[in-house]
Amino acid sequence: MCYFHVSCVLQVYPPEYEGHFQSLMITQKEIRDRIKVLAALIHDDYGNERPVMVCVLKGANPFYQNLLEALQDLKHGYTMEFLKASSYEGNASTGTVRVESVNFEALEGKHVILVEDIVDTGTTLAHVIPLLKEKCNPKSLEVCTLLEKRLDTPPLVQAKFKGFSIPNHFIVGYGLDYNELYRDVRDIWVISQTGIDFNPSALYS
Ligand code: IMP
Ligand code: MG
Repeated sequence: MCYFHVSCVLQVYPPEYEGHFQSLMITQKEIRDRIKVLAALIHDDYGNERPVMVCVLKGANPFYQNLLEALQDLKHGYTMEFLKASSYEGNASTGTVRVESVNFEALEGKHVILVEDIVDTGTTLAHVIPLLKEKCNPKSLEVCTLLEKRLDTPPLVQAKFKGFSIPNHFIVGYGLDYNELYRDVRDIWVISQTGIDFNPSALYS
């Protein structure tokens, strides 16, 4: 137990993750600064319109919360919706996308902004976007992603609002997971081989 926190070593991630990261990619501060810019772009673009901000769970959740906070600072109104989409197993895109828990009615005829953590191949959004267009006929539908990976081939979907373009590494933290771990880390890191090989059940035995 540490009583005098000035003498404590400050850890930037839970100690059980020691060795699981290869390198730091983007700090929490850099993320927050960039989010302010994205919110300003949305504010400028949408004027008096109130977009429906749709969080693509689970990974985008921290980004979504911070983006909404930045919109609140600008006094830009919005409504909130969530959907769950998954295409990854471990660190490989499966190509099959599952979409769950969408309130289609809430998006009908509205300006919709899909808030994503990362666009990798674009497979997830290439599935979600036509589905939403077909089921809810939104007034407009744009994507705001925190990250976009630079791959040899461009992603299937282009986001209108992008936070960072990153090299092709598997990254974790700030909501991004590997087998459900590392969402609880505040910065974004490149995962190490130790992290990839780690068996999550070891944390709960
Ligand atoms: P896509 O369908 O290939 O564009 O992949 C998009 C989804 O896969 C994202 O929303 C993430 O949930 C997940 N994903 C892609 N790359 C990474 C990564 O480097 N780390 C963690 N999750 C990722
Ligand atoms: Mg995602």
